[in-house]
Amino acid sequence: MSEQAQKPYMLHESSYVDQPATIGDGTQIWHFCHISAHTSIGENCRIGQNVFVAPHVQIGNNVKIQNNVSVYEGVILEDYVFCGPSMVFTNVKTPRCEYPRNTSGDYLTTRVKKGASIGANATVVCGTTIGERAFIGAGSVVTKDVPDYAMVYGNPAQIQGWACACGEVMVKKDATELHCDRCGTHLNLK
Ligand SMILES: CC(C)(COP(=O)(O)OP(=O)(O)OC[C@H]1O[C@@H](n2cnc3c(N)ncnc32)[C@H](O)[C@@H]1OP(=O)(O)O)[C@@H](O)C(=O)NCCC(=O)NCCS
Ligand SMILES: [Zn+2]
Repeated sequence: MSEQAQKPYMLHESSYVDQPATIGDGTQIWHFCHISAHTSIGENCRIGQNVFVAPHVQIGNNVKIQNNVSVYEGVILEDYVFCGPSMVFTNVKTPRCEYPRNTSGDYLTTRVKKGASIGANATVVCGTTIGERAFIGAGSVVTKDVPDYAMVYGNPAQIQGWACACGEVMVKKDATELHCDRCGTHLNLK
């Protein structure tokens, strides 16, 4: 039986997983990826081409990471997070080459909560929390916490509207009531 056949997850032959690492059933790791030791990746994740996962990173179930994303130490991705192609995480707020800050204690935590999406080429400044089902537009620079369901974009990213769990932009019915014309969900911001 080949090495791949014994694994409950798919690892392309061009990628490396340093041990020990936990990778859930049904997860797919495509070409040219490097998964560091002491990481935990959940079930049914899709990890695209050229993705780096740093030591101690925790990734939930059903997470999708598109091509060319580095998930640095300090980043936590909850279930069903979507990371668009070439989006960028950071983990040191004021980096210096001459005075490196590269011990675990120096890294700020960035948490991306359940069901949030991050658009292509967005940058997330470390120390922020992206709320549940929040939506970050392509090319945005996230500099502060993003509330649950908020749709933000721009540099710096600002709240521009609200996103349904299904991804559709929600329509405001009044000051606090939101409606999704696609799936019929109502949301109360109170
Ligand atoms: C954020 C997003 C969902 C907004 O969609 P939308 O609500 O339909 O927005 P619209 O296209 O109607 O644009 C509304 C306005 O916001 C601007 N805008 C939209 N997205 C923007 C972004 N990411 N950054 C800056 N401005 C943006 C538009 O230019 C437009 O400006 P205008 O009113 O001055 O003309 C979408 O633009 C986006 O960025 N999607 C992410 C796509 C992606 O990265 N996918 C990755 C996997 S393929
Ligand atoms: Zn919806």
